[in-house]
Amino acid sequence: MQKKIFIKTFGCQMNEYDSNRIFDSVKRLGFIKSEDQTNTDCYVLNTCHIRDKAKEKVYHEIGRIKKLYKKKNKPIMIVAGCVAQAENQEMLNREPYIDIIVGPQSYHKINDLLKKFIKDNKIEETEFDAVSKFNYFDNIKNENSKVSSYLTIQEGCDKFCSFCVVPFTRGPEYSRPFNKIIEEAENLISNGVREIILLGQNVNAYSYQDKFKKYRISEIINKLESYNELKRIRYTTSHPRDMTDDLIECYKTSKKLMPFVHLPIQSGSNKILSLMNRKHTVEQYVEIYEKIKKINPSVEFSSDFIISYPGETDNDFKETLNLIKKIKFINSFSFIFSPRPGTKASNLNLIDKEVSKERLIKIQEYLFKFQLNINETFINKSTDVLVENKLDGQDKFFGRNKYMNSVIFDGEDSDIGKNINVKIKEVNKNSLFGKIEKKNMRAA
Ligand code: SAM
Ligand code: SF4
Ligand code: F3S
Repeated sequence: MQKKIFIKTFGCQMNEYDSNRIFDSVKRLGFIKSEDQTNTDCYVLNTCHIRDKAKEKVYHEIGRIKKLYKKKNKPIMIVAGCVAQAENQEMLNREPYIDIIVGPQSYHKINDLLKKFIKDNKIEETEFDAVSKFNYFDNIKNENSKVSSYLTIQEGCDKFCSFCVVPFTRGPEYSRPFNKIIEEAENLISNGVREIILLGQNVNAYSYQDKFKKYRISEIINKLESYNELKRIRYTTSHPRDMTDDLIECYKTSKKLMPFVHLPIQSGSNKILSLMNRKHTVEQYVEIYEKIKKINPSVEFSSDFIISYPGETDNDFKETLNLIKKIKFINSFSFIFSPRPGTKASNLNLIDKEVSKERLIKIQEYLFKFQLNINETFINKSTDVLVENKLDGQDKFFGRNKYMNSVIFDGEDSDIGKNINVKIKEVNKNSLFGKIEKKNMRAA
């Protein structure tokens, strides 16, 4: 009988990519995907450590799974991802229900770990070994056949922002060989993928040198541009310090690179940026914004903001609001600072909880207002949508426009994977709703 595996993913897009690759690997051992978390032989929690009580959330999740399986055979319990990396052996000691701990740079060993577990029991594997991981997966096809697919090109981080746990959970920066990325992209395209989202913790820090030349992310974008079936290219998450001119130039030359830049700044105050060890200023950020807008005015920006970083005064916060008013980010994330164990900012004096909450409400008021305003500009207009899927249990279809807005519309199965024009009738801050324009008006 075939064994089933259920993978629950928390955190960023890189974890989603990793979960897909974990499945590509365990398929070789005969596992099939379970869509039902109450009925599986192996349960993987792919965890995130970025904020809040990440570790406690994992133990809470395991408590929930234990209850689900009280009267059934226990599944093999695997904790993967960034909490696994940060906590490693300690988790096995504290929670006997866990069988295997595997870090984000070690999951290429998952098949061996599963085989070993069945023989020997309880395993922890949290080595930092990005090279072996990617070498292993270069030989296993990425079977993702969704219309839009992630493709990790770079991993890890050497920047050590004082609030951030990523350099400790994902290890040093590593860029995959250019030709391996292109091979994986070709494979995805032949699977039916029509949009590739290049991924990395610092995706635009991508840098790979072979015998002949040095490759940057702009080379990957330019190469992907040449595949006829591929319709859209995106990348995330980029860092202002790595926004080099060759990448900026792509916003002029590339027809497939979407005009939407997710470029986190974290704060609009130079004092706070310096305390955060971001090593760039607000002025340098605005300069990037202006350069891109100058060569392609259709490009819009989104960002990440950390509110109430220790030392943030009302005035620093005001500077963040001023920056938001200036750039009019169309879709951003904002979080209250959460001290992370092991980071430089872990023991600093926190800003009062009520003040932090008020600041978060205020910033989100601004961000959501601009988000709604831009969405309203689409009403009664046609927007170019790449159709991804039919919504579960509904007659409606789902896709995204150039700016990553969700678009929900009446469509047909044959539209999946195509670019179509949708006339927008209604909007809210997150989504656009409409109808397909006449078939002869299709965009591609
Ligand atoms: N590499 C990206 C960059 O430098 O902008 C960010 C990657 S991080 C996975 C995603 C976001 O999580 C960050 O941009 C930041 O806003 C947020 N974040 C990271 N650590 C945090 C912390 N300790 N508290 C609150 N938010 C945090
Ligand atoms: Fe974290 Fe900073 Fe690295 Fe981004 S650049 S992953 S925020 S340490
Ligand atoms: Fe979370 Fe790790 Fe991603 S901490 S945000 S899953 S890199």
